[in-house]
Amino acid sequence: MVDTSFSNMTHSTQATERFLHVITWGCQMNVYDSNRMVDLLRPLGYKVTDKSEKADILILNTCHIRDKATEKVFSELGRLRQIKEYREEQGQETIIAVAGCVAQAEGEIILKRAPYVDIVFGPQTYHRLPKMILDIARKSGNVIETDFPVESKFDFLPAPEEAQGHTAFLTIQEGCDKFCSFCVVPYTRGAEESRPVQAIIDEATRLCELGVKEISLLGQNVNAYHGQGPDGNIWDLVKLAEKLSTIPGLKRIRYTTSHPNDMSDSLIAAHRDLPALMPFLHLPVQSGSDRVLKAMNRGHTAKEYYELVDKIKKARPDIALSSDFIIGHPGESIDDFKATMKLVNDITFAMAYSFKYSPRPGTSAAVSTNQVLENEKDARLQELQTVLKDQQTKFNQDTVGRTIPILFTNKGRKEGQIAGKSPYLQAVHVQGDESLIGQEHLVEVNECLTFSLSGNLVKESIPL
Ligand code: 5AD
Ligand code: SF4
Repeated sequence: MVDTSFSNMTHSTQATERFLHVITWGCQMNVYDSNRMVDLLRPLGYKVTDKSEKADILILNTCHIRDKATEKVFSELGRLRQIKEYREEQGQETIIAVAGCVAQAEGEIILKRAPYVDIVFGPQTYHRLPKMILDIARKSGNVIETDFPVESKFDFLPAPEEAQGHTAFLTIQEGCDKFCSFCVVPYTRGAEESRPVQAIIDEATRLCELGVKEISLLGQNVNAYHGQGPDGNIWDLVKLAEKLSTIPGLKRIRYTTSHPNDMSDSLIAAHRDLPALMPFLHLPVQSGSDRVLKAMNRGHTAKEYYELVDKIKKARPDIALSSDFIIGHPGESIDDFKATMKLVNDITFAMAYSFKYSPRPGTSAAVSTNQVLENEKDARLQELQTVLKDQQTKFNQDTVGRTIPILFTNKGRKEGQIAGKSPYLQAVHVQGDESLIGQEHLVEVNECLTFSLSGNLVKESIPL
């Protein structure tokens, strides 16, 4: 229930004009969450501004997954504090809110170190944001909301009113029960939870009515989705995707992030049988060494990953594979690293993310005594990234000469250009009329540039 009794607000410059500025770090799920925060605050009269100094509310939506997350937050907060002070001198009040996984993990520490912060709230409690803001406006002091509530935030979020374009994220599952040795997600996002099917269909339908053509289903373990169906049964991701594909206007469905152990045979078959399911799969392996995979608690071997990829490629030979790699997990020897390099060279990826291991407080790997030296991690990461970059370039070059459907999503960088995405998530631009934005057309790809592909619209093309 959204509390809209907002007439007593004291921090606004004018009763009717209130602005909100959201800074989003981290994963796509954070982008989704930030959009929903905007949806929550819109009924209260807040409009989004990209100018932080104009904002009555500044929200910093944080990520705790890697790097020096907490220090980064405090340094950004220092900047936001200056804005708050400057605005105060002008007689304008500003609410600073810290959201996301660092807020969840650090909670009170944030308020202690940065008392000018008004609200700290975790990923599971942002549906209470209007109420929290109201409490601040009533001068009841700063607010912490980092418990895992009994109610689900999804039951309290309003339907999206504005789509950001022709592609959208939709969170269908949150949290994780897998407890990989290196990962904070089970601690910051909580236990694995799937949203009910009908709520997802309603949200997807609304997005499509607003012009969305491609939806990326999000979840920390998205392929483990098992939500309550309208028929009273538990639906898996395949059944959900099949149902979503019947929504008028929806052309493309993607999903991320998947765990290899939840890649069911029926999901693999759907990549062959369900045309809306895009031939792109982000399937993190993290390491190619059985010893490290075991230490990471990943629950599968390298051989099992190879076999899985074989099965997927048999079902959908043109599938583009993507992955995540962690280099320098505690105990990773040079031979372990070589096994990762071998896996990369054997499988080949269309794209991949690779990271140096960074200890996360509270995780089991962080207390391991056999941490890998920093310069060793740097050298290994560089070696891996060189190969991954070459593989990505090769994958893109191999698209040259092919005719593929492109969903145009925006204007290109140069006059007369429009740009969009291939089924394999590649950026593609052509000379074309802006009226084609929001449509899918066949394009003959004829050049591979550094950051995108370019091509020509197939003549007489009608929207697909
Ligand atoms: N250190 C480095 N990388 C990490 N990831 C998750 N936790 C850590 C960590 N502690 C990476 C994993 C995961 C991706 C989202 O971030 O590769 O798949
Ligand atoms: Fe983290 Fe993914 Fe492992 Fe869950 S499966 S603990 S989200 S890395």
